[in-house]
Amino acid sequence: LLAEVLPQLRFDPTAAGNPAAAFSPHVARVWLEVGCGNGEHALAQIARHPEIGLIGAEVFANGLASMLAHLEPETRALPGNLRLWDDDARALIRILPDASLDRLFVLFPDPWPKARHAKRRFVHPAFLPEIARVLRPGAEWRIATDDPTHQAWLAEVFAAQTLFAAPPPATARPADWPPTRYEAKALAAGRRAHYWTLRRAGPSR
Ligand SMILES: C[S@@+](CC[C@H](N)C(=O)[O-])C[C@H]1O[C@@H](n2cnc3c(N)ncnc32)[C@H](O)[C@@H]1O
Repeated sequence: LLAEVLPQLRFDPTAAGNPAAAFSPHVARVWLEVGCGNGEHALAQIARHPEIGLIGAEVFANGLASMLAHLEPETRALPGNLRLWDDDARALIRILPDASLDRLFVLFPDPWPKARHAKRRFVHPAFLPEIARVLRPGAEWRIATDDPTHQAWLAEVFAAQTLFAAPPPATARPADWPPTRYEAKALAAGRRAHYWTLRRAGPSR
């Protein structure tokens, strides 16, 4: 799967200047999911929203392989509205043009709960301007986390910035938000998730 199917879906970094053209057929709007794991959420979203191009970023090879297995490439055509980035999502974000994404998903990111590891967190004040740069004004950014330290961290980070409108998180998963494998395990273990829906400040298109 990694050797034969992944290359057919891999997002080509030389196409990063116009990510909408990386899809077949070309799309009008591009969404990015960071840390798509085994792909349940990404695959549900591309099925629900065939007009959207979704890039799934995942560094964990087993996760990507599991996602590719679900696509059954031998019996079905690979989806034209899915592309995969098998590297650090931050490296992709850095090469995307301004206002090129319509939605960003960061679902149950690694929380890095120890203070000395805080700089490894994906949601970090130092990286927020770069995320804001690639999201068009009005674009939605969804984040979920079940880790209490990370929940407090998100509240602190978003209270101290003006790039995103950041109403308090929901404690029940909103509609049109397909569940993930990690979430199911967290809820089964009795943990409570926070679901943030942020909006890039600025006028909507
Ligand atoms: C806790 S798992 C959650 C996976 C999935 N979102 C879910 O809810 O089931 C976090 C995932 O993010 C991936 N990840 C962490 N940092 C990443 C990065 N900078 N770029 C891409 N993927 C990343 C990890 O490999 C891991 O699979």
